[in-house]
Amino acid sequence: MRHLLSIADLTRDEVERILDSARSLATVDERLPTLRGRLVLNLFFESSTRTSSSFELAAKRLSADVMSLKAAGSSVDKGESLEDTILTLSQYDPAAIVVRHAQAGAPQLVARWSDAAVVNAGDGKHQHPTQALLDLFTMREALGPLEGLHVSIVGDVLHSRVARSLLQALALVGARTTLVGPPTLLPRGVEALGCETATEIEAIGDADVVYVLRMQRERMESAYVPSLREYAARWGITPERVRPGQLVMHPGPMNRGVELDGRVADGPQSLVLAQVRAGLFVRMAVLRELLAARPALEVVA
Ligand code: CP
Repeated sequence: MRHLLSIADLTRDEVERILDSARSLATVDERLPTLRGRLVLNLFFESSTRTSSSFELAAKRLSADVMSLKAAGSSVDKGESLEDTILTLSQYDPAAIVVRHAQAGAPQLVARWSDAAVVNAGDGKHQHPTQALLDLFTMREALGPLEGLHVSIVGDVLHSRVARSLLQALALVGARTTLVGPPTLLPRGVEALGCETATEIEAIGDADVVYVLRMQRERMESAYVPSLREYAARWGITPERVRPGQLVMHPGPMNRGVELDGRVADGPQSLVLAQVRAGLFVRMAVLRELLAARPALEVVA
């Protein structure tokens, strides 16, 4: 694996290897020397709490040098292009560039402009592959083997890179997916990706996991639901709608009281904080997978 730009870059064996590697890293409580002397560049041109912090910590736990740059406060503010930013920072010989960008396809461009391994940390509505991997890890830790698992993904699928990556990842490991939400937020023809769709919330009834998506108001150019209040009333996940034994996940950040009732988010069936924790181990595993087998550049003194 040269880059991780999309779940489509991975085979089932590679997914299983990353999850197994993350499992072993979760039991280690000391800093590992794996990436000593290597530079990991974290470029976040779109806001993030979980992904940016966990990639930074993951690289540090593997003893890498870490540089983190956000658009605000950098020369991007002065109009510097993405290409010039990458060419400039490449002079420090990064081994990996982790990039989040509002533009779908930006990480592919970064991979063209740099010799580093590139990890997509979320690009527009396109992909968020490490989120899907940490979600699989969280499900596997809670429920065991993923083959045959039934996951309902609920809500704003249309604008969700998380849903696109997770749907692909679940299909890769042999799990079944049902997308549930208002018809306006279910992409037309999405069943071709190997999932079922439903517009009534009762369809979550037989799922093992209810995966709740954030209503992405910032990516909606027009009204897709009459109001958030009506959305919450018809598709919001409340204690009454979750059956005993069902587990609930959300990638964060949550709109409490819109797509997810706070009593569920904070309740015993919620895996929301386990997902955050899994992000650290899975991102360590991804960096190790990408870089450990890739020799560092020889530096001439
Ligand atoms: N799930 C996720 O990508 O969260 P952040 O936007 O906080 O990184």
